[in-house]
Order: sequence, then structure tokens, then C-alpha cells
Amino acid sequence: MYQPGLKGITAVETKLCHIDGAQGVLTYRGNPIQSIVEDNTYEDAAYFLLYGNFPSTEELQIFKEKLNDNRELPAYVREILDSIPSGQTMMDVLRTTVSSLTTKKLMEDNATQLIAIIPTIIAYRYRKMKDLPIIKPDPALNHVENFMYMLSDKVNKSDVKILEAYLIMTMEHGLNASTFAARVTISTESDLISAITSAIGTMKGPLHGGAPSGVIDLLDEINTTDNISEIIHKKLKNKERIMGFGHRVYKTVDPRAIALKKKIIQSEHLPEWIKLALETEKVTIKLLNEYKPEQNLYTNVEYYAAAIMKSLELDPEIFTAIFSSSRIVGWCAHSMEQANNNTIFRPNATYIGD
Ligand code: ACO
Repeated sequence: MYQPGLKGITAVETKLCHIDGAQGVLTYRGNPIQSIVEDNTYEDAAYFLLYGNFPSTEELQIFKEKLNDNRELPAYVREILDSIPSGQTMMDVLRTTVSSLTTKKLMEDNATQLIAIIPTIIAYRYRKMKDLPIIKPDPALNHVENFMYMLSDKVNKSDVKILEAYLIMTMEHGLNASTFAARVTISTESDLISAITSAIGTMKGPLHGGAPSGVIDLLDEINTTDNISEIIHKKLKNKERIMGFGHRVYKTVDPRAIALKKKIIQSEHLPEWIKLALETEKVTIKLLNEYKPEQNLYTNVEYYAAAIMKSLELDPEIFTAIFSSSRIVGWCAHSMEQANNNTIFRPNATYIGD
């Protein structure tokens, strides 16, 4: 049987993630994403996905120390970063730099290294391209605080909480294209650095890790709450898609959008831009329901990802790389799962030539 894109075909068994698109449910190792985000730090959630249990105090301490030990860029990595031409995208830079890392004996050690170093690579390159002074990681800060600090030279607790929620929620999402690419590479008994290089190359494509910049364009166009209804009406009449709404898997509300919105609303000072996003969501869902009553169109995770990136004043050009800095956890966990119970991927191709 030939199924284009392997749509609907089960290719692996996993204990990492379950998605029920009809009910709007996403769980990591059996735990609903909402409770994982509410009760855990980035480090707890990453450890849980990699090892299957939430870390004890001692396990967490060791994990954090390992992350700290791997956060700094080795001199040769800085040289590579400095030599990549300025026109290359952040995903190109990430792919090239990650591919230069040394393979360690234990796959889990490489996983910790990758989780720790990817934010430093992104922040180093980002500041270099903007002619800003480079900020080294601070061992006193946790993972997400360090990422914010290295990018923007400030650590605002409420911004960190929101970014952390986004990063936890996007760590893992089943057998998406990049995760599949990582598993295929590992299935040949290749190493984790090669698998993650494959995954980053796959994530780069607009059909997968495409940045939520469409949402930013939409909200920039709307600009003020007075314009929402008129602009959305016009777009729907012209049969345009409203960015940040609808999802291929979720046929109800994307649970990540709900959890992310909750986090955003909890923050002390809502930036004007977020207020506009919240109001636009309300009006758009109502209008989508009028124009497309059969489709059940709701907000997806990209909508609030855009709101967060914009309110943190991060450049759209690094959105997909930031997404990769969280999905690295899922890629590593899937690679470890594949290695522990491996069969090489080798599907058939039906010959249709002369
Ligand atoms: N705005 C307006 N209409 C929409 C939207 C939308 N955002 N999404 C779907 N529809 C309509 C389509 O026009 C179509 O209507 P029709 O049958 O009258 O022609 C119907 O709903 C079904 O559309 P499909 O593309 O077949 O639905 P699918 O579930 O395959 O699409 C997708 C999912 C591609 C995400 C779509 O909802 C979309 O284009 N959304 C906007 C882009 C976006 O936000 N992408 C980010 C997704 S989240 C992520 O990738 C992490």
C-alpha cells in the first residue's frame, strides 16, 4: 500500500507523547501538558522526557551541573560561528554548528550537551549579527534565565516564566517530520549529533518549523482593537487564511494554546501587543465560526508563540531556532528510545518508471 507522506501510517511505538487531536489532549509520558507546565521547570520537564521520572533533588542537582558544564561554547565552535557568512539563516547556523560537536561515548551525555549548548549558539550568533557585546552564560542562572540573559542582557522573572512555559510545551509532539528524521538517522546506528543535524535540517522547512511571523504580520496590520472586526471580515470574505488559527491534528482547541494563554494572562503587566492579541482572538473565533461553521477553527500554539516572541522583543528571524531549542529535548528522547529498541527504517518504493 502506498500512502503519500506516510499519512495515517504508524511507524513507531513510543512512550513519550500522546496526542488526541479530536479531544485536544497532549500528554508527555502520560501527564497532561497543562500540569507539566504548571508544576515544573524546564529542567524538570526535560529530565522527565529523557529519563521517564521527575528528578529527585539530587538527580536535578546533577542534571543542572551537567547543563552548566556544557553551556559555554568551545573556542573552535566560536570560530565556526564567526566564520559563517552573515547571510545564512539562524537555522543554517544551528545546523552547521551542531554538526561540528564531538560525539560522546554515552548518548545521554550528548543529549545534555545539546540541550545546554543550543541556546548559547543562538544567543552568540544573534548578538554578533547585531554588533552587540557577547554575553557568556551565568552558572547562577537556570536554563531559561540563561537563555533570556544571553539574548537580551536582562532577566525579567515574569518574561522568563512565559518563555519557560512556551519551551516546555513545544519540547515534544509525537512523530513530526524532524523527530522522524532523527529516529531514521539513529536507526542506522549513527550517533546523536548526526541525528540532531538531520532533525534541524528538517525543522528548517516552512511546512514544519515555519515561524509564527504570519501572526505578527496580522497583528501589525490590525494595529488597534478598532480595526479587528473590519480586517478579519475582509480577509475571510477574500477567502484568506487567518494565521494562528486551525491545526492539522487538533480539531478543537490546541491544548498548548490554552496553557500558554493562561500563563500570559497570569503575568503582572500585559503589554499592549498582548492585549491586542487577546481581543483579536475573541473576535476572530466568532467570525471563523460564522464563515466556516463546519470547521471548528480555534487558536493554535503558533498564535501565542508569536505573541510571546513579540512581547519579548525577539526578532522573527530566530523564532524557528528558539522552537528548536525546546524540541531538542523531544529529538533526544526519541533518539534514545529508538536506540533502545531499534529496527532500521527501510520502507519500500513502488517503481512507476519506464
Ligand atoms: N483561516 C481561515 N480558514 C481556515 C483556516 C484559517 N486559519 N484554517 C482552515 N481554514 C478553512 C479552509 O479554508 C478550509 O475551508 P473550505 O473547506 O471552505 O475551503 C477548511 O478550513 C479546511 O482547511 P484545510 O487546510 O483542509 O485544513 P487543515 O486542517 O488541513 O489545515 C492548517 C490546517 C494548515 C494549520 C490551517 O488551519 C491553516 O492554514 N492555518 C493557518 C496557518 C497557521 O496558523 N499555521 C500554524 C499551524 S500550528 C503549527 O504548525 C505548530
